[in-house]
Amino acid sequence: MNTSPDTPQEAPSDTSSDTPAAAVARPHTPSPARPSRVTVSTLQAQKREGRRIVMVTAYDYPMARSAEAAGVDAVLVGDSLGMVVLGYDSTLPVTVDDMVRHTAAVSRACECVLVVADMPFMSYQSDVSEAMRNAYRLVVEGGGHAVKLEGATATTLEAVRRLVGAGIPVMGHLGLTPQSVNVLGGYRTQGKDAPRAARLISDAAALQDAGAFAVVLELVPAELAERITARLDIPTIGIGAGGACDGQVQVAHDLLGMSGFLPRHATRYADLSAEATRAFKAWADDVVSEAFPAESNTTHVDSATVAQAESLAGRGEVR
Ligand code: KIV
Repeated sequence: MNTSPDTPQEAPSDTSSDTPAAAVARPHTPSPARPSRVTVSTLQAQKREGRRIVMVTAYDYPMARSAEAAGVDAVLVGDSLGMVVLGYDSTLPVTVDDMVRHTAAVSRACECVLVVADMPFMSYQSDVSEAMRNAYRLVVEGGGHAVKLEGATATTLEAVRRLVGAGIPVMGHLGLTPQSVNVLGGYRTQGKDAPRAARLISDAAALQDAGAFAVVLELVPAELAERITARLDIPTIGIGAGGACDGQVQVAHDLLGMSGFLPRHATRYADLSAEATRAFKAWADDVVSEAFPAESNTTHVDSATVAQAESLAGRGEVR
């Protein structure tokens, strides 16, 4: 985790002008107090030095700003986007266009954090050239620094080799790989028996050999994740894989209380859904009682101007 002193940029406090708050420029001047950009080498050094890696998902500009201000090392623009933001019941319908748009929003917010973009379902599984084109879009149009893909099939490993060879860092993802939910038969812990655990050990080594810079282990028994972590030179980043991984990743909406269902591997650190409902209700009550808009939300023009405007409009003299 990046624990350096941090001076996050605040939005300008003067909202008295006519410029809508959302349109006020929010310049990103790198603070001299902040470290330079986290890179894949930074994460690998963290493994060597035994410093935990912190990665959280973000799908939009404000969430990415909050993650960066909190000093996380990496932000994952996960295809969990499909479930927690777009309302699908799996990650499968997420498209490359969705990922490019959301990666670009996140990248615009991140000065220091490493931005990893998920390659969505069927954007890399069938054809390595297609994988190259899609990863190129996530990096060049989306501004991501690295991509993540799931599994370790022959095609996936070849895609990892070719992408890394072309200069695009790749994070692997093993264990519960949500894009294969229909093959795996649900969102359950993987590698619970010796043959399946052996497959995970060997897949992790194959991803490292293919050039992956790190690997996510999702829903893997802690003892197995610990062994994989010890065997690899590259960092493991766990989600539901115990405390021995080199780092941890969580879905932001689970941490913030914005997803309806809280998986066992997550802990809620805030209840933003309830807070948003409370705020909307307070505002709706103020609209109904005519307490909103207040004088401070309102601009005025003198009555002579209004009278002149009515007279011009009445004569049809409208330009
Ligand atoms: O899409 C995602 O959010 C992920 C994490 C669960 C690792 O892949």
